[in-house]
Amino acid sequence: MTKIMASYLLGLVFLLALVLLSTASPKTHYHDFVVQATPVKRLCNTVNAITVNGQLPGPTLVVNEGDGLVINVVNRAKYNVTIHWHGVRQMRTGWADGPEFVTQCPIRPGESYTYRFTIQGQEGTLWWHAHSSWLRASVYGALIIHPREGTPYPFPKPDRETPIILGEWWNRDPVTVIRQATRTGAAPNVSDAYTINGQPGDLYKCSSQDTTIVPMDVGETHLLRVINAALNQELFFSVANHIFTVVGADASYLKPFTTNLIMLGPGQTTDVLISGDQPPGRYYITGKPYQSAQNAAFDNTTTTAVLEYRSVPCPAKGLPKSTPVLPPMPAFNDTNAVTSFTSKLRSLRRAEVPADVDEDLVFTVGLGLNTCPPNFSKNQCQGPNGTRFTASMNNVSFILPSNWSLLQAHRYGIPGVFTTDFPAKPPVKFDYTGNVSRSLWQPLTGTKLYRLKYGSRVQVVIQGTSIVTGENHPMHLHGYDFYIVAEGFGNFDPKVDVKKFNLVDPPMRNTVPIPVNGWAVIRFVADNPGVWIMHCHLDVHIAWGLAMAFLVEDGVGEYETLQAPPEDLPLC
Ligand code: C2O
Repeated sequence: MTKIMASYLLGLVFLLALVLLSTASPKTHYHDFVVQATPVKRLCNTVNAITVNGQLPGPTLVVNEGDGLVINVVNRAKYNVTIHWHGVRQMRTGWADGPEFVTQCPIRPGESYTYRFTIQGQEGTLWWHAHSSWLRASVYGALIIHPREGTPYPFPKPDRETPIILGEWWNRDPVTVIRQATRTGAAPNVSDAYTINGQPGDLYKCSSQDTTIVPMDVGETHLLRVINAALNQELFFSVANHIFTVVGADASYLKPFTTNLIMLGPGQTTDVLISGDQPPGRYYITGKPYQSAQNAAFDNTTTTAVLEYRSVPCPAKGLPKSTPVLPPMPAFNDTNAVTSFTSKLRSLRRAEVPADVDEDLVFTVGLGLNTCPPNFSKNQCQGPNGTRFTASMNNVSFILPSNWSLLQAHRYGIPGVFTTDFPAKPPVKFDYTGNVSRSLWQPLTGTKLYRLKYGSRVQVVIQGTSIVTGENHPMHLHGYDFYIVAEGFGNFDPKVDVKKFNLVDPPMRNTVPIPVNGWAVIRFVADNPGVWIMHCHLDVHIAWGLAMAFLVEDGVGEYETLQAPPEDLPLC
C-alpha cells in the first residue's frame, strides 16, 4: 500500500515538474525579416519605402523575459542594411547588436545574416530598427518583453496593451535626404510628418481615412507601450482627458507616478497605464515636437491617433464620427515641462548603483562647424556662413571604419582600424555652456575608442555644449543599461553637484536626454565585453560624428568573455 502510494506520489511530482517546465522554461522565437522596397502611401504621395516584410511599422516581436530570439534578416533592398535590437543588453553576444561598422559589416543587397540573442533581466518595452544610413525612418518595430510565465507585473495586470510607436515620415527617400546633406554640408531637410503606428493622423492632408484607432472599454486598464522611433525629433506625448500612470521606461520598472504629459527622445520607451474612466467617446492621442535648439528648422506638426471607446455607437450611415477631443499640449520649447517629467523618474526597486567608481569620465557633446576645406566647392559648404556642420564628443568627431567592423578588428587584432586614445576628459576646459570662442568650434576627426577593464565601475558626466546652439541630445549607449544619478543645467560642478546624486533609486535607462545647455551623470558596471557605441540618437547628429565607442575587455573565464563570432557574420 505505502509502495503504491509512494510511486503514485512520485508520478504526481513528476507530472507537476513537467507542467512547470513546459510553461516556465524559456522559448526560442524564430522570425524571418525580409528587408525590401515597398510602395507606401502617405500624405497624398506614394513613396517606395524600405520596410521589413512589407509592413510599416515592421513586425512586433513579443517574448517573455529569458527567451531567445533567432532572426534571419534577408536583404532584398538596394541599400546595405543592419538591424539593431535597441536596448537589448546582448550579454556576450555583441555580434548580434547590429550597428553598421561597429559590431558587424553591413548585410549587402542579396545577402542575409541571422541575429541570435537572449533577453536577460529586462521587462517592458524595447524596439528594433535599422542601423545604417537613415533606413530606420521606415525600418523599425516594437519588441515587447513580458515577465516570465507565472511572474506578475509589479502593477495590476492591464486588461489590454497596445504598442504606440511614434515615427517620422519623409515624402522622399530618407537615404537621399541624408546623402544630400552630407554632400552640401547643410542641415538635412526636415520631415513631412510624424506618425503613430505608421499613420500621420487627422491633422495632415490625405491621412484621416487611415488614422490609427486604439480601442478602449469602460472601466478597463490599458497599458500603452510608447516608443519614440522618430529620426531626429524629441516628442511630447499625451492623451486627451486621460491621466497616465507611468510604470516603466526602457524595459526597467519605475515607481508609479501620474502625469498627463511625457517626453521621449528618439530611442526611449515609456510604459503608461490609462483607465477607461471617461465618458465613452473619442479622444486624441498626440505626439508633437520638443525642440530645444535655437533657430533650428524642424517639423512643427502634430501626429494624432484616436482612443475610441468601443461602446460609442456607430454614427448613422453617411454621418461622420464625432470629432475627438484634443489634449492641451505644451509649447515646442517648453523645457520646464521636460524637466518636471524627467525629475519624477525613480527605479521601482532599490538600485544597485556602484557607490564608488574606477573610471571618472567627462564627455562633452555638441555640434560644431568646419571651415570649408580648400578643395571643396561652394556647393559643398552650405552650412552657416559657408561652413559644414559637424558634431563631436570631447572634440573628436567620430568616423566609422569601412573595411572592418570595430568588433572584428578588436577580435582579430587588425591594426589601423581604430585607436584607444579617446580622451577621458575634455582636452580643453572652457565654459561649455557659455559664449564659446570660435576657435573651439571645429573638432578633430578620429575613430577613437575608450578602453575599459572588465568589471570596472564607470561614471560618465555627459556635458552639453552651446557650440553653434545648445540642444537636448538623447545619448544612447549600446550593450548596457545605466543609472542616471543626476542631471542639471549649466556646467557640471563636481563640488556642488555630487550632492544631488541619487544612489538609492535613480532610473535605469539605455538613453538619456542631456538637458539643453546642461549635463547628466550616468553610472554602470562594464560587465559586457565587446565594442559598444555611444551616440546621440538624433540620426542627423550621428552623421555629423556625435559618437564614440567603449572597448570593454574580456574578463576571466567563459562567462566573462565575448562569444565567438557566428559563421555567417558579414565581411566588409
Ligand atoms: Cu537605437 Cu545605436 O541605436
